[in-house]
Amino acid sequence: MKIFTKKAPLEAYLSKEKLHGKSIGFIPTMGALHEGHLSLITTAQKKNDLVVVSIFVNPTQFDKDEDLINYPKTFEADKIQLEKISCDVLFYPDVTEIYEDVIRSESFYFDGLEHKMEGKYRKGHFNGVGTIVKILFQIVKPNVAYFGQKDFQQLQIIKKLVQKHNLNLLIEGCPIFREKDGLAMSSRNVRLEEKYRTAAPFIYQTLQEAQNQFIKQNPFEVILRVTEQFKYHPLLKLEYFTIAEEETLETIKEKEKEKNYRAFIAVFAGNIRLIDNIKLKHS
Ligand code: PAF
Repeated sequence: MKIFTKKAPLEAYLSKEKLHGKSIGFIPTMGALHEGHLSLITTAQKKNDLVVVSIFVNPTQFDKDEDLINYPKTFEADKIQLEKISCDVLFYPDVTEIYEDVIRSESFYFDGLEHKMEGKYRKGHFNGVGTIVKILFQIVKPNVAYFGQKDFQQLQIIKKLVQKHNLNLLIEGCPIFREKDGLAMSSRNVRLEEKYRTAAPFIYQTLQEAQNQFIKQNPFEVILRVTEQFKYHPLLKLEYFTIAEEETLETIKEKEKEKNYRAFIAVFAGNIRLIDNIKLKHS
């Protein structure tokens, strides 16, 4: 695996490979790699000649300094995992290489998607995500970039970024990877104290129940039940649960036949914030 910490040699290397007709698949990450990330990489390997992974803990997408400081940083273990699955290229820049002297986000308008759910609770988060993803796309110039559906809102926003800025690449969303007990894989899971880790699968159980309930009942009834279920939970604190249309992320009141919906949830397990979502079926 080739490792680059500077963008100029990476750009030079990748443009040579592109000249030789190689297609590039790209997976941007913040490290602390888990099986969910590895599945994105193996998907990219099947469909591209060269796979690039970036590891960069992006300061501008954190709304709380504490969250940035505590974000797991496991570079040596990540590198071993990437070598094991034969990743071709790792880009591991430092903050100065990306932001030079000013660590600041660009301001984006994603047709309002940025103000919903995560955007409401994490001020400036999607400006930070948009900024780093745009910078990385400009450096790597991939044919396809892969993102997990666990961060479904992020995925929709990145599609918008590509569309609005006429970026020449495809975005592919990949299924959520779960632990055996259903907890969605996340770099934050390693920070859960044991009692919270034991309690956390309740989040996916609730989503599955909501999925069943949604087939027969209206969104209001489903939201009410989920809210009630968390009200007296001794360890998990619900931040939001909502049912929204997949494209607009607009919360719905009534089901409409041809539309696609998902249930979205954010929960605090102690001071660790977990998010998850599930696709809904309806008649
Ligand atoms: O999903 C993540 O890990 C990050 O938000 C991303 C897309 C790598 C941007 O920093």
